[in-house]
Amino acid sequence: MRLREWRDDDAPAVLRAFQSPDLRHQAPWPVVTLQDAVGWIAAWPGAGHAFAVTIGELVVGNVAVAGIDAHGNGWVSYWVVPAYRGRGIAAAATDELARWAFGERGLHRLELGHRTDNPASCRVATKAGFRPEGIERAKLCYDGVRYDVERHARLATDR
Ligand SMILES: CC(C)(COP(=O)(O)OP(=O)(O)OC[C@H]1O[C@@H](n2cnc3c(N)ncnc32)[C@H](O)[C@@H]1OP(=O)(O)O)[C@@H](O)C(=O)NCCC(=O)NCCS
Repeated sequence: MRLREWRDDDAPAVLRAFQSPDLRHQAPWPVVTLQDAVGWIAAWPGAGHAFAVTIGELVVGNVAVAGIDAHGNGWVSYWVVPAYRGRGIAAAATDELARWAFGERGLHRLELGHRTDNPASCRVATKAGFRPEGIERAKLCYDGVRYDVERHARLATDR
């Protein structure tokens, strides 16, 4: 498994990935056409740093840090395509992203949040060294339903 910059010619792989219904909320807009996928890739440089997670030539996921602020904080997100889940890819890629964000980008605190009904994401966060910091009640609203979110964070100084 490796991380690399997203490339324009990854758009078909991005489009295929977003056909998974549980990735619906992982993009700021619906990714349903090739043009949407091109736009998803093109938008990252303004929003933060995103890396394609690859196995050989195959794109299997994404890890990203966005929302970087003046305090050295950043917001982490991740997804893996369904066929490659359950192999430790998200946890390893998120750990590698964190090391890059602390070591190369000079950040101090990385945060993430997962819905409390997403135990796989909780496990990924914990395995990647992001400690739980508490529940944010009713933080997200999808299709008229509100969801609690658990916040996790990893500091550059965490051991
Ligand atoms: C969450 C997601 C990134 C996990 O990717 P992955 O590569 O399968 O993750 P890993 O293999 O590194 O780890 C998954 C862990 O969750 C565990 N897990 C999976 N489903 C679970 C469930 N229903 N309940 C509890 N644990 C679960 C696995 O057993 C594994 O833990 P383990 O290594 O201790 O056995 C992937 O499912 C995904 O992309 N989901 C849709 C998008 C998403 O939810 N992103 C996160 C938003 S906060």
